[in-house]
Amino acid sequence: MLSVAELSVRYGAIRALERVSLDVPDEAIVAVLGSNGAGKSTLLRAISGTHKLHKGRIDAGTITHDGQRLDKLNPAATVARGVVQVPEGRRIFGRLTVEENLRAGGMGVKGRTQAGARDRVFDLFPRLRERRSQLAALLSGGEQQMLAIGRALMANPKLLLLDEPSLGLAPQVVEQIGEIILEINRHGTSVLLVEQNASMALRVADLAYVLDVGEVSLHGSAEELAASDKVQRLYLGHGAEDDAAGDERAAAGTAPRRSVARLSRWTG
Ligand SMILES: Nc1ncnc2c1ncn2[C@@H]1O[C@H](COP(=O)(O)OP(=O)(O)OP(=O)(O)O)[C@@H](O)[C@H]1O
Ligand SMILES: [Mg+2]
Repeated sequence: MLSVAELSVRYGAIRALERVSLDVPDEAIVAVLGSNGAGKSTLLRAISGTHKLHKGRIDAGTITHDGQRLDKLNPAATVARGVVQVPEGRRIFGRLTVEENLRAGGMGVKGRTQAGARDRVFDLFPRLRERRSQLAALLSGGEQQMLAIGRALMANPKLLLLDEPSLGLAPQVVEQIGEIILEINRHGTSVLLVEQNASMALRVADLAYVLDVGEVSLHGSAEELAASDKVQRLYLGHGAEDDAAGDERAAAGTAPRRSVARLSRWTG
């Protein structure tokens, strides 16, 4: 379980997060919604220890994972503890092949374990198997996102941090990404999912938080949040004047659709 308590982060004089508290229970998917500049990426960076690379500073609060403090660790030590981030904008290595990108993600993992992890990534993303020798720069946007997620999975995460995986992708591909997040979670990996696509995020998540200029303004089950006026209005695009058809659409688009089946852990 990840527990963020009263976390404040600043960049120089800019306060990006103010006393943010959030929990990701084991094996849960937790969504964080919020508009541009709300502090979503800052939250993930603080958890993964990468905030310093962006000149961010944790001012107050704690981050613990399985009872151990994360907020004093560097990014590599955080990955070694099983907390792995897929950063905003994918950041794959365009001049490396698909397979080389995956190998880079599994650098801390040796020989046979690495081959096993790679095979599981290929099972999850058959497209990546087909394109294993292709340069990553030549993949489509959706495939690059899949590669970024696959690369993170190579490190065998207990907790996966995803920063807007749906950004810039066609609706059908967004749906696919949602299904993949559910599939990863079914293997026992918890997911903290930052999204502006509230419809996809609330469909796959168990719990959700809304960040509003650096503070948590709402939290609850994904179902509760999907039904709340504020989320409907600001994130699902349904005005108060919407008709019953709109409500039905909202229900169809956001009703959490979790599978109860739990397979063996992703680590295999
Ligand atoms: N490296 C940085 N230096 C200075 N200010 C920053 C830096 N990164 C983010 N900020 C500021 O911190 C606040 C939170 O930014 P953050 O990137 O966490 O928001 P976000 O919710 O991820 O936004 P988006 O949806 O646009 O990705 C914003 O006011 C932003 O301008
Ligand atoms: Mg961001």
